[in-house]
Amino acid sequence: MSGLILLLPLTSSRNSRLDHPPSTRFTSPSRPTPIPCVVIGRNQNPWLETNLQKLHNDREDNANFSDDAVYVRRRSGGGAVFHDAGNLNYSVISPRTTFTRDKHAEMMVRALHRVGAINTSVNDRHDIVISTLEDQPRKISGSAFKLTRFRALHHGTCLLDSPNISDLGSWLRSPARDYIKAKGVESVRSPVANVSSSMQDAPAGFSMQAVIASVMDEFAQVYQVSPDAVRQAQRAHAVEPELYAADSWVAGAVGELEADAVPEIKKGLDELRSLEWKYTQTPQFTFSTYPIEEDPRERPPLPPSLPPSTRVFLRFKHGAIIESCISTSDNPLIAAEQASRVHPALNGRKLHELQLSNWTGLLLGRLSADEEPDTIRQLASFIASKFGS
Ligand SMILES: *[C@@H]1O[C@H](CO)[C@@H](O)[C@H](O)[C@H]1NC(C)=O
Ligand SMILES: *[C@@H]1O[C@H](CO)[C@@H](O)[C@H](O)[C@H]1NC(C)=O
Ligand SMILES: *[C@@H]1O[C@H](CO)[C@@H](O)[C@H](O)[C@H]1NC(C)=O
Ligand SMILES: *[C@@H]1O[C@H](CO)[C@@H](O)[C@H](O)[C@H]1NC(C)=O
Ligand SMILES: *[C@@H]1O[C@H](CO)[C@@H](O)[C@H](O)[C@H]1NC(C)=O
Ligand SMILES: *[C@@H]1O[C@H](CO)[C@@H](O)[C@H](O)[C@H]1NC(C)=O
Repeated sequence: MSGLILLLPLTSSRNSRLDHPPSTRFTSPSRPTPIPCVVIGRNQNPWLETNLQKLHNDREDNANFSDDAVYVRRRSGGGAVFHDAGNLNYSVISPRTTFTRDKHAEMMVRALHRVGAINTSVNDRHDIVISTLEDQPRKISGSAFKLTRFRALHHGTCLLDSPNISDLGSWLRSPARDYIKAKGVESVRSPVANVSSSMQDAPAGFSMQAVIASVMDEFAQVYQVSPDAVRQAQRAHAVEPELYAADSWVAGAVGELEADAVPEIKKGLDELRSLEWKYTQTPQFTFSTYPIEEDPRERPPLPPSLPPSTRVFLRFKHGAIIESCISTSDNPLIAAEQASRVHPALNGRKLHELQLSNWTGLLLGRLSADEEPDTIRQLASFIASKFGS
């Protein structure tokens, strides 16, 4: 994968961090075809927002291990998004003082208008949508923000020409969504569209490179960038990742190789790849097969292979079980006893480490006294399937 960084000093004052130059970075989708990925917001729950079974979910020994798409948690807030080869990634880092939430979305829209995607606009959720006469507006771009004292990071996605757009639903649909109640941020689901499909009548047709060049031009207008810097940045992006510099600007491209060579960046990448970040960073949540006070929704019926009296309740903190109530008996006394036998085996276990074999072993060990082994296996498989293992 490759990307571009434009660093454009606004003033020459050395020590004022307020004057830190805005920079922008684009990732070219053109070189090795990226594997599609699902990216959730910092405070989201992967078991609720994604179908981990269908993603590369760090469980290599899963018989149904899927390499179709990758699961990632990002640093900024907001909802779950989807990336593939036809998706443009953009980030702008600017001084906090001049930042507004719509500034860069408006910049993207001007860039899209310029290449002929005239029906795009920013809506009141700061998303970019495309309108047609027949249909409700469809989302083409979502954004997330990270604000620090002096700087603002705004990054977003733009579905320009996504080959995998029709699979999106299957990666974002969790098998556990009827059972999980999570703290943190829940995604708002919106109908999506490709920009390219609205441009069939545009004179020049659709081209990813044309959109990228247009965004760079608009960025240059917003931040009054030297035309040379823009030209060199476009060149670095389209042709080769060279670094160009003049007295007041630097333009270049940074790819994974370069990033891995910079210790500060490598440290950040390693953290993002760690299982702690991906799973145990999850805000508190509950999983329950029956209505509970904090989640009174009606639940779907249990699989017919399980006794109707089966109850599964789990409470998680930092992705680990802190409370549980799992039983199959319809006798309340026996059920309570089952739950208290099972809990010590589950307490403190990290959900992402529990595979089907672990659930099976653990429940067989604790429930065999009063339940059929086959039923226990079905129960384990029901629970594991809801968590994507
Ligand atoms: C793998 O997926 C198939 C079809 O969805 C399912 O029948 C099978 O039980 C799964 N195997 C495991 C180990 O999850
Ligand atoms: C995504 O689309 C590309 C291009 O059509 C295709 O080669 C790839 O197999 C698709 N990926 C998935 C997981 O469907
Ligand atoms: C999106 O941008 C990030 C950061 O530049 C990059 O690592 C990732 O591969 C990009 N995704 C795609 C699909 O281009
Ligand atoms: C864009 O909007 C105009 C007017 O709302 C409409 O006539 C036109 O068909 C739209 N174009 C596309 C490609 O949807
Ligand atoms: C989006 O664009 C890709 C590439 O041209 C195409 O394969 C796909 O069918 C389009 N999807 C939609 C929903 O327009
Ligand atoms: C889960 O089971 C596998 C073997 O099936 C074992 O290697 C692993 O340590 C177990 N994990 C936990 C958290 O018990």
